[in-house]
Amino acid sequence: APDISITAVRAHLDELSAAAARNGGNRRSTGQGYRDSVAYVKGRLQAAGYTVTEQPCTSGCTSGAGPNLIAEWPQGDASGVYMFGAHLDGVSAGPGMNDNASGSAALLENALTLARENPELRSRVRFAWWTDEEQGLNGSDFYVRTLSSTERSRIKAYYNFDMVASLNGGYFINHITSAAAAPMKAYWDSLGLRPEENTEGAGRSDDYSFERYGIPTSGYAMGASARKTSAQAAKWGGTSGAAYDPCYHRSCDTLSNINTTGLDRAADGIAYTVWQQAVGTGGGGA
Ligand code: PHE
Ligand code: CA
Ligand code: ZN
Ligand code: ZN
Ligand code: ZN
Repeated sequence: APDISITAVRAHLDELSAAAARNGGNRRSTGQGYRDSVAYVKGRLQAAGYTVTEQPCTSGCTSGAGPNLIAEWPQGDASGVYMFGAHLDGVSAGPGMNDNASGSAALLENALTLARENPELRSRVRFAWWTDEEQGLNGSDFYVRTLSSTERSRIKAYYNFDMVASLNGGYFINHITSAAAAPMKAYWDSLGLRPEENTEGAGRSDDYSFERYGIPTSGYAMGASARKTSAQAAKWGGTSGAAYDPCYHRSCDTLSNINTTGLDRAADGIAYTVWQQAVGTGGGGA
């Protein structure tokens, strides 16, 4: 699998930070900061050769919320799809760099890298940037709820990335013992990170919209407002007794609130998972 460029991921973060700065300091789903974020991601994907769909969220979202953004790479058997998603909206309080420009940027650079490398695929790879997560997982819920049952059954797994650069973070994996999580875990295991189950995030991000329909889900996270234990500080470093993200849902969730090392490890693990699950023409892939 390719090594995702952390420099490129950071450049996407810079653009999303600027989108907030131009628009009252946030990227909430109903504002221009969100719409500018959508335009940036969409423009980069289109330039790389993706056909990108803006999906208006016409039920269950906050009034005035911007669209979901969906991009599928047109290679591989369309009867099996691996999905990778991140919410692109933030709260009103600040620019939302860790929550969740981090996941959005890691995903975008993975999509651009897949297009550039254009390997032979056995399954489809589809990327999604969700709207209105912060008001109740609404964009992803709309997407899954309005898919046909045939399209839903084609999704082999959904991988979620919400807060993957927490300054005092840990290495957390959703449903860590599941078959879907195996490549995510294998990559972080290979770095000696000793990841743990994402208990704090259970049911609290867009993977839950898929889980409710019985679709296998996993993903990476580095933690929100819960506090690092002494055992976790011993194995990962950082400050025990302090929140994983010191700026969760606050105005200080800026470019200074990004753990670059953690972000790079998440971005590279996404690429490893894309390649394990979808690249090649042989068998394999959980
Ligand atoms: N989904 C939460 C949010 O976007 C983030 C979160 C992740 C909270 C994990 C708790 C645990 O605000
Ligand atoms: Ca890298
Ligand atoms: Zn979030
Ligand atoms: Zn949030
Ligand atoms: Zn679960």
